[in-house]
Amino acid sequence: MSIASECVRLSSGYTMPLIGIGTYKIYGRDTIYEVIDESLNVGFRSIDTAAVYRNEEDIGYALKELLHKYNLKREDIFITTKLAPSENGDSRGIERAVSKSLRSLGLSYIDLYLIHWPGAARIPENSQQNKDLRACTWKKLAKLQGQGLIRSIGVSNYTIDHLKELLSNCYGVKPAVNQVECHPHYRQEELIKFCNTEGIHVQAYSSLGTSTSTNLLKDPVVTDIASKLNVSPARLLLKWAVQQSIGIIPKAEKKEHIRDNVKLNFTIDAEQMKTLSSLPQSKYAWDPRNVC
Ligand SMILES: NC(=O)c1ccc[n+]([C@@H]2O[C@H](COP(=O)([O-])OP(=O)(O)OC[C@H]3O[C@@H](n4cnc5c(N)ncnc54)[C@H](OP(=O)(O)O)[C@@H]3O)[C@@H](O)[C@H]2O)c1
Repeated sequence: MSIASECVRLSSGYTMPLIGIGTYKIYGRDTIYEVIDESLNVGFRSIDTAAVYRNEEDIGYALKELLHKYNLKREDIFITTKLAPSENGDSRGIERAVSKSLRSLGLSYIDLYLIHWPGAARIPENSQQNKDLRACTWKKLAKLQGQGLIRSIGVSNYTIDHLKELLSNCYGVKPAVNQVECHPHYRQEELIKFCNTEGIHVQAYSSLGTSTSTNLLKDPVVTDIASKLNVSPARLLLKWAVQQSIGIIPKAEKKEHIRDNVKLNFTIDAEQMKTLSSLPQSKYAWDPRNVC
């Protein structure tokens, strides 16, 4: 079975493809169109965006045209978007944000809606207020899910402490997904164990070490194992995640990268997995550990 058609069942009951396309920093109607065109062509059926990426409208435009081209129906694709930290805790703002994302994306429902960040914009990370604001956000999202505007709700950048707090008061809806930075340089083993125990699907972001650093792709241990397996370093890093049932959303603008990223039909052996999972740790994206 191709990786593109592999899915996970979320606690909400819906299924989500294990692999999706990341769209952070992909801008411009034509560029987005070309990226989604090639991605659908090679089998991607899931797209990750966010209000703060400012590309939902262009994604909506591309989908309107491209679903026809590939003879796909709305339900054949899975769209994730996220609440901007500026709206955290603002009940009316959340409703407006969801409506805006729906309108921009040209959808009648969002497959997965995530709280992008455990903190609220303009509030210090160490402020206790963050707790009340994200609890209020969750309550509102649970309500919107009940109304059918969102099929599954989840979180992003939540630590074990943030998750424990949410699970203790989740209005009957557990987070379906926690989207976090995860790759051999930042493995988050405790968090993944916790999520697996609680039935929260872990989706990795920055699997390739972000668009701004090549430290991970050029790590000699990564390039050495990749060359032994006759795959690119990117494919090795992506396979490292999916072999542990962790979802992936690689961002790629170049067609050869988009094509490369679905070729995951190989196995990393136990010894190689162990070596990759012993690399020194280094974080590349924003850090939620200090958000109260
Ligand atoms: N929830 C959050 O807080 C959060 C934070 C960060 C990211 N994300 C999500 O996760 C997605 C992925 O993370 P990311 O954007 O940080 O970057 P990433 O996926 O770790 O890396 C993207 C970089 O890798 C390159 N690349 C892609 N495929 C490649 C291949 N096969 N070989 C060599 N290079 C390759 C891309 O180049 P080209 O673009 O030039 O092809 C780009 O420079 C984002 O787009 C976003 O959707 C979420």
